[in-house]
Amino acid sequence: MNDYDASTYGDRVADKYDAWYPGGDPAPIVQRLTALAGDGPVLELGIGTGRIALPLAASGVSVHGIDGSAAMIEKLRVKPGGQSIPVTIGDFADLDLEDRFSLVFVVFNTFFGILEQHDQVRCFLSVAEHLVPGGRFLLECFVPDLSRFDRGQRLAVSAIDSDSIRLEASVYDPVRQHVKGQVVSMTEGGTRFYPLQVRYCWPSELDLMAQLAGLELEHRWGGWNAEPFTAASGLHVSVYRKAG
Ligand SMILES: C[S@@+](CC[C@H](N)C(=O)[O-])C[C@H]1O[C@@H](n2cnc3c(N)ncnc32)[C@H](O)[C@@H]1O
Repeated sequence: MNDYDASTYGDRVADKYDAWYPGGDPAPIVQRLTALAGDGPVLELGIGTGRIALPLAASGVSVHGIDGSAAMIEKLRVKPGGQSIPVTIGDFADLDLEDRFSLVFVVFNTFFGILEQHDQVRCFLSVAEHLVPGGRFLLECFVPDLSRFDRGQRLAVSAIDSDSIRLEASVYDPVRQHVKGQVVSMTEGGTRFYPLQVRYCWPSELDLMAQLAGLELEHRWGGWNAEPFTAASGLHVSVYRKAG
């Protein structure tokens, strides 16, 4: 997997993504993003097949996207409304767009798709440059849970029936805060591999990246309905604000 880059995950999983990761009702997410966006426009990092961007655009928000995977964007394009969202194909660690946004957001742990700390910092810096004064950067990320791993590795069954099984296998490097994984799909037709790599961060590290970029933490919730963020929270929704 030495050839893993910003396109790899999406290009491999595009045919399966919507079936494997349908997500729940997007309405609370769309309402929260709409409220934070004000008059917009907004930019989604890792827009994917449009799980959030499409209902957000349908609610009247001007949505732009960036994604490393042309295959994921092909899936977005064939959905209702998918033709009218402007999308840049590229690595969002190298964000360089002419437009400026009232809200930039990255959901479903997708920020961790940047695999090196210095590139994650660079992303915060360029997001800040792409915000209008008073604009916001929202991230939805898991809180790392290293108890998932046993001596640096994990193997779990994510789906099983009478003639197929889907496994998640991963190894973990605590020094790089890096997880290298494969979803392995075994069916009567054969075995297929869907690679995934992440560099995870604790919320406190994201706060430092935000500070370096001149952004201030405005909210940290334990979910999309503004649940309190506590030691028991498995995820956080964090909103950073650029000075107005
Ligand atoms: C987990 S999916 C999330 C898709 C969508 N935001 C959602 O919530 O369903 C992650 C998406 O981010 C893209 N991605 C991951 N790392 C990226 C990077 N460094 N630059 C650009 N896109 C990236 C993948 O191609 C994929 O479409």
